[in-house]
Amino acid sequence: MAPRLQVEQRAVIPGRIVALALLVLLVVATACGGPAPHETTLARGVVSAPESQAAEVGAAILRQGGNAVDAAVAVQFALCVTNGFGAGLGGGGFMLVHDPAAEGNSVSTLDYREKAPAAATRDMFLDEDGQVIKDMGLYTPLASGVPGTVRGMAAAWDRYGSLPWSRLLEPAVKLARDGFVLDPWTADSVKKYSDKFAALPAHLLRHVEFDDYYRGKEGAVLRLPDLADTLERIAREGADEFYRGQTAELLVQEMERDGGLITAADLNAYQAVWREPVEISYRGYRVVSMPPPSSGGIALAEFLNMAETFPPQAMHSAAQIHLFAEIAKRVFADRAEHMGDPDFHHNPMAELTDKHYAQERASEVNRHGRSDPASIRAGEFPRHGASGRETTHFSIVDDHGMAVANTTTLNTAYGSGVVVDGAGFLLNSQMDDFSAKPGVPNDSGVTGSQANEIAPGKRPLSSMTPTMVFEPTGALSLVLGSPGGPSIISTVAQVIVHVVDGHQDLEAAVDLPRFHHQWPPSPEGEDLLLVESQIEYALPQDVLAELSRLGYTIKPRKTLGDVQAVMIQDGVATGVFDRRRTGGVAYP
Ligand code: DON
Repeated sequence: MAPRLQVEQRAVIPGRIVALALLVLLVVATACGGPAPHETTLARGVVSAPESQAAEVGAAILRQGGNAVDAAVAVQFALCVTNGFGAGLGGGGFMLVHDPAAEGNSVSTLDYREKAPAAATRDMFLDEDGQVIKDMGLYTPLASGVPGTVRGMAAAWDRYGSLPWSRLLEPAVKLARDGFVLDPWTADSVKKYSDKFAALPAHLLRHVEFDDYYRGKEGAVLRLPDLADTLERIAREGADEFYRGQTAELLVQEMERDGGLITAADLNAYQAVWREPVEISYRGYRVVSMPPPSSGGIALAEFLNMAETFPPQAMHSAAQIHLFAEIAKRVFADRAEHMGDPDFHHNPMAELTDKHYAQERASEVNRHGRSDPASIRAGEFPRHGASGRETTHFSIVDDHGMAVANTTTLNTAYGSGVVVDGAGFLLNSQMDDFSAKPGVPNDSGVTGSQANEIAPGKRPLSSMTPTMVFEPTGALSLVLGSPGGPSIISTVAQVIVHVVDGHQDLEAAVDLPRFHHQWPPSPEGEDLLLVESQIEYALPQDVLAELSRLGYTIKPRKTLGDVQAVMIQDGVATGVFDRRRTGGVAYP
């Protein structure tokens, strides 16, 4: 295998050795009358994040006695500074929390997804001829939903937090005020996307002060004083400051300057929502994930349910990749038809995650030749009622076994490119996750129906899939998630299959080459299969040749996904960050 071009060394190997030593100490302490194993379930906690300075922030909070949610809040705000292209105060996301001390279902799922402003309309991105206006929902002040991140963090902290709110924001304020070091991956991305924003057509080029906000070369120390002030206000006054205070005023002024839709009333009304998780068993493991308005949990469940009807898969051969592409086509056809914000649309969740449905659907899979995507329809259920992109995932486990899986995003890299003047953060481009017109693909190439059309106050359908997997014994085994738009679902499914079916350790499961199929029939009649092209992750030539022979159009993508995960085995939590990009694993 070619040497990896990575700045960061994974802390996995030394981490494992230290963790083992701690486990030995724990066992000895227990034998000597120390804490009973059910009181302290793990030797120590771990933070796996896509940026190492933020991972260190989380580990420091755990060292101070904070729990996994305290650490998650601190990591999220730190990433809003160090990972400004993918996580930000102007975005939203989803969080899973596992609380081993809770009665009943130990996993709660928090929806802090952005919402369409009250003035949004179904056809707002269509021209007079009813055609979708390219990039209108991506790079303009109209592209942003009402941000959810700050309310989301406050909701998680209200329910689970143990350290003072302001203490959790302190590290982020310091990073923004004193500066943080720009890693090579981010430096590259700043360059690439500044060029991309600068090249936008004039009618979209409104307010991209990208360079002013976020410039620098690899190794440079970046300071973001406006953002430091904003974070300091939120630290002092709580989440209300963002939604009702000076930050809200600055955001509304930004909208008014340029015809954006978010008003003071939209900000005032925004709430994060706790929802019921999606849950299935997969070969005896319990898999828990995010329900709508993310499609991630249901799609993952459908994917794994169908996979379970076949013998365990290693996913290395063309035949296995073909099988998973066949499954994915059916999953994504259902996603396009049936999923949307549950406050506006009935998602047939029980039906789509049902084992019998999976069996029926899997029986349509053609193992020897391709099913033409155009021939695949969504499953039919009775209807009820009315109806580059960057993202950031981190996983945290504390020494009591409390865990957080959190995926957050501005949608595309640097969101809409619109910076709130004076507040120092970018606004999201999440409105592109709605279906601007039935059947017309969005920037990620997925289509939608009425279920995901734009409506005031509605949340756009997501693919984010923060997930936890529990052993057949009930013990937490895996905490994971990834960016990648619709390919998040394939990425998370593949890592789980590598661990459960392939008995891979987490590092290998994250390293293995990935692929992705998302169904919509292409106008040219191609059957598109995305595969990784970066040399370390590329599938062998003979596998690619066999897939081409089967009739797939192979579409290379440098890499797919960026998994940050934690695995717990024998009371030891080990973190892994994806070597496809930079990242960090930090132990308290
Ligand atoms: O919510 C979603 O599914 C998308 N907005 C996520 C975008 C994404 O993951 C881009 N990152 N690579």
